[in-house]
Amino acid sequence: MDKLIIQGGSVLEGEVRISGAKNAALPILAGSLLATQPVKITNMPHLRDITTMMELTGGMGARFVLDDHRGVEVYAEDIRSFEAPYELVKTMRASILVLGPLLTRFGQARVSFPGGCAIGARPVDLHLKGMEKLGAKITIDNGYIHASAPKGLQGCDIAFDTVTVTGTENLMMAAVLAKGITTLHHAAREPEVVDLAHYLNHLGAKIQGAGTDTIVIEGIQELGGGEYAVMPDRIEAGTFLTAAAITRGKIKLKQVLPNTMQQIIHKLMEAGADIQVTDNTITLDMHGKRPKAIQLSTAPYPGFPTDMQAQMIALNTVAEGVGHVVETIFENRFLHVQEMQRMGADIILEGNTAIITGKEHLKGAPVMATDLRASASLVLAGLVAEGETMIDRIYHIDRGYEVIEEKLSQLGARIYREQG
Ligand code: UD1
Repeated sequence: MDKLIIQGGSVLEGEVRISGAKNAALPILAGSLLATQPVKITNMPHLRDITTMMELTGGMGARFVLDDHRGVEVYAEDIRSFEAPYELVKTMRASILVLGPLLTRFGQARVSFPGGCAIGARPVDLHLKGMEKLGAKITIDNGYIHASAPKGLQGCDIAFDTVTVTGTENLMMAAVLAKGITTLHHAAREPEVVDLAHYLNHLGAKIQGAGTDTIVIEGIQELGGGEYAVMPDRIEAGTFLTAAAITRGKIKLKQVLPNTMQQIIHKLMEAGADIQVTDNTITLDMHGKRPKAIQLSTAPYPGFPTDMQAQMIALNTVAEGVGHVVETIFENRFLHVQEMQRMGADIILEGNTAIITGKEHLKGAPVMATDLRASASLVLAGLVAEGETMIDRIYHIDRGYEVIEEKLSQLGARIYREQG
């Protein structure tokens, strides 16, 4: 298993290009199953999860042509299998995103039931309830979700009990080819939901209201083709900004969308960062100062993203003062805390709140990555720790960060990968 080795103490400085968003590219790729004409998707990030989604849809009959500029052509006119097998779903929960497109276009889908994951139970009940409301028959057998709608889906009103990002995306895709109008109430407002809606509309769908909590979809008969660029990754961008803040450095991010990152920018300014934005760049300068502790509570967009919670805890471990970080989305998303404690961090967990008393320094240690964003937070901790930090199980980080060690090295970090 590959490991990352970090020698702490470097101050990050320089420029970095932000990749396309994993959480937009995944639903966009799944949504390509709806298209009867070729589509071209650009700004596609090179990530393990993207390869998994291509393997999954490729197994159904989709064909791909990759170019050298992060572009992927998708041909989904000839889909012959409607199954998402356990072997792939267990490595990536977002595989559930093929359910809506398969069901609405072909009237059938068989998707392995995603299990629990490191950060909590993560059920898909709201996806399934919504599909049933659209007229699908759902049964669970042998660990698989069997969904069928031989006469197609019928538009209706769906109200989510909880805000769910992939649930909103799955039902939005299902509604694109349903008969009549579907209204999604209490929908997720995440920028990635908006990006998916823009993509589908570009191919001919009729979706209104994405970005608000009410999305209205007028069903059409067939989705065409076209070319679309995936939005920049706001979580990768936030992780690099935090890396600069934690090392008291100065960096410029290129190809970002600052208007999707307001809470992150706001919290880093609270930590003492001097931040300047243009339409597609962000510059952060700590002027060599130690960050100040920040207080935050995660919430659905436009609130503070849970996918940046672990990185902010890392920042607080070396900040001046005491920070409180409350996790409201997932029940078990503090696995990074134990690892940071092994590096000398002073963190107390009280229910869903982490209370972090900042220290001048952490100490390098061997640590283990437990999930995607936890891994990123351990990299940040390693950057400011005295001595060497070795992060094991970094396949988690490869799911969601494109060449993270190369990008950090370019900024002056001493980090390398040990292949094992
Ligand atoms: C997506 C993101 C993930 C992010 C999360 C929250 C992708 C591929 N992943 O995950 O990076 O951390 O949003 O911003 O975009 N829930 C239910 N029933 C359901 C669905 C969800 O109870 O059917 C609950 C979950 O347990 C959780 C909350 O709703 O407590 C939010 O989960 P959800 O928004 O669905 O997360 P994902 O879409 O899986």
